[in-house]
Amino acid sequence: MPDKPEPWLEGLIPTLNQRGFMSETMDHYSARFAQFAGTVEQEVLDIGCAYGIATRAALDNGARVMACDMDARHIEILERETPADHRTRLRTSVGLLPDVDFPDESFGAILAARVIHFLRGAEVRLAIDKMHRWLAPGGRLFLVADSPYTGFWSAIAPDYERRKAAGEEWPAMIDDVSTLLGSGRVPDGMLAYLNPMDPGILVRECERAGLQVEEARFTGLAGSLDGRNHAGCIARKV
Ligand SMILES: C[S@@+](CC[C@H](N)C(=O)[O-])C[C@H]1O[C@@H](n2cnc3c(N)ncnc32)[C@H](O)[C@@H]1O
Repeated sequence: MPDKPEPWLEGLIPTLNQRGFMSETMDHYSARFAQFAGTVEQEVLDIGCAYGIATRAALDNGARVMACDMDARHIEILERETPADHRTRLRTSVGLLPDVDFPDESFGAILAARVIHFLRGAEVRLAIDKMHRWLAPGGRLFLVADSPYTGFWSAIAPDYERRKAAGEEWPAMIDDVSTLLGSGRVPDGMLAYLNPMDPGILVRECERAGLQVEEARFTGLAGSLDGRNHAGCIARKV
């Protein structure tokens, strides 16, 4: 039985597979997902759910949730921590974006919070195309990605701004994160690359997939709207 790690900094629980942290406080768009999830009849999907911060909030709001993560240990902990009276509305699956699949038009809402920056450009496109297919008409996609202004990645912000101005498609792509980590090396199991995004990239990719964007903006940490730590958007399947 895997144990949930202790917080690294207050409120930040490390993942077991070196894919960042799960915040114990939801960001603005995860909170919006949890709220919306309680209003739709269809099941909703939380992909890259880690230990289930947003899944838990959506369940609290009465939603039926499919929680999916690439790491079976995260899912095991999420299931163990889900109160018995919520378990009948929770389904789980272990799957890797962009390979994982679900039936077309099966979800009323999808959240991918702080997971798509682990994908390269072509994989981001494939993942958003799939999410568009999985949404029922009228359903909403909630995306959150690390921005080039957060944590260790903020060292590349001037470079990102220059590459963006030059028209690069993925201007914040970091091919070798080791140069930005204090240790100077990539910990075992961690990806060597990262693809931070801005709201404009999320809008472009959602529209490219045929989704109608309702809002997109930078947000801060832990639910704050101030700051530029994350890029988020909400898009609707028409
Ligand atoms: C930074 S955590 C974010 C957790 C949570 N959604 C949040 O916002 O706090 C990223 C999670 O996504 C999962 N993940 C990373 N890459 C993934 C992929 N390609 N497919 C599915 N899950 C992935 C990791 O296992 C981890 O649990």
